[in-house]
Amino acid sequence: MDHFNYHQGHLHAEGVPLSRIAAAVGTPVYVYSAATLRRHFGLFTQALDWTDHLVCFAVKANSNLAILKLMGDMGAGMDVVSGGEYARAKAAGVPGERIVFSGVGKTIAEMRQALEGGIRQFNVESEPELLALSQLADSMGAEAPIAIRVNPDVDAKTHEKIATGKSENKFGIPIARAREVYAQAAALPAIRVVGVDMHIGSQLTDLDPFRQAYAKMADLTRALRADGHSITRLDMGGGLGIPYRRDNNAPPLPIEYGQVIRETVGDLDCEIEIEPGRNIVGNAGVLLSSVIYLKHGEGRDFLILDAAMNDLLRPAMYGAHHDILPVNEPRLAADVQPFDVVGPVCETGDTFQKGADLPAMMAGDLVAFRSAGAYGAVMASEYNTRPLVPEVLVDGDQFAVIRGRPSIEEILSRDTIPEWL
Ligand code: LLP
Repeated sequence: MDHFNYHQGHLHAEGVPLSRIAAAVGTPVYVYSAATLRRHFGLFTQALDWTDHLVCFAVKANSNLAILKLMGDMGAGMDVVSGGEYARAKAAGVPGERIVFSGVGKTIAEMRQALEGGIRQFNVESEPELLALSQLADSMGAEAPIAIRVNPDVDAKTHEKIATGKSENKFGIPIARAREVYAQAAALPAIRVVGVDMHIGSQLTDLDPFRQAYAKMADLTRALRADGHSITRLDMGGGLGIPYRRDNNAPPLPIEYGQVIRETVGDLDCEIEIEPGRNIVGNAGVLLSSVIYLKHGEGRDFLILDAAMNDLLRPAMYGAHHDILPVNEPRLAADVQPFDVVGPVCETGDTFQKGADLPAMMAGDLVAFRSAGAYGAVMASEYNTRPLVPEVLVDGDQFAVIRGRPSIEEILSRDTIPEWL
């Protein structure tokens, strides 16, 4: 459930008509609903209320400081994958004890930054990383709390570009080798083993892969304890999918997901960490855009928008679908017709949807891409020197620009022409 609904014929974000935001800020612009964020975070904490837990928001899904602050103030932890994301989490007021550091390629500088600033745990993904972290922490007179990310070799049944739990993927340590690597970790200076970590993929719409992976995690935890390791935390990763189509069968709910965790690892008396990103913020955001032209092509009509693949990359990159809603509510009997909805970027891949059923539209009309709060703004670029898309947060009847649109002058000022040219 989200808070983007029609009132009196106009699509609103909570109490604010999207047309008002478009008039004030211009388009394209991402618009987020604070109420939806709070609600989704609450669903995950409820789903785990049977145990000690920390919901670590996957910062990569949406890293705007205002979003992170809103989540952090509710008690969320953060899952970060770069020094930049770590700095964002800290700048949003989240203490190091609530930040976990994931990722296959942490640099020495990033690990140092986290050791200095405070960290809950590093999710270590390889032996070279483990050795590097041990050496670094030792040289700093620090101790690095770690979980090892284990690759359970489970098919997450999701898009190939976002499946991470098969043995052919670059992530984690093969589960068959986990005990050996934990033994190595325990013997290293300045390393403190605290838990086990997994993340098998994103946009999972079936609980079975989670169940399989977590059952393997439970077996591994028992084996590691028998080997003498103190395993007190299990990081279950993120990945629970969201409904991208309104008419679709909805994926499982957080409460059902929490039940799978309880059934598989609930008897181990561990603190549970989860790293949801998309499920919290995906349906809490829309990308608002204006029609620039309606172009009659051969056998098809193109709706040319002022948003493009650089603003919302998911359709071009994954063939992803985002429902497109006209901001002015179509009359019930309104005739719909198929449009190819495209952006202005000079690539055929800059197509959001082919044959989208929409009512008659004209230049200046507004449309909203649903489910764009996760992996939308964060994956945007300035390709074609289109200014980075701004972001707005709505809370009840108020809204604020939480990232402004850079001017062309600002963009140009970042480049330097060497004096010898
Ligand atoms: N934890 C780890 C270690 C991850 O790699 C990810 C996502 C998450 C948590 C959060 O997963 P979520 O709950 O959001 O599914 N750009 C792609 C998604 C990439 C996901 C990468 N890892 C997309 O637009 O679909």
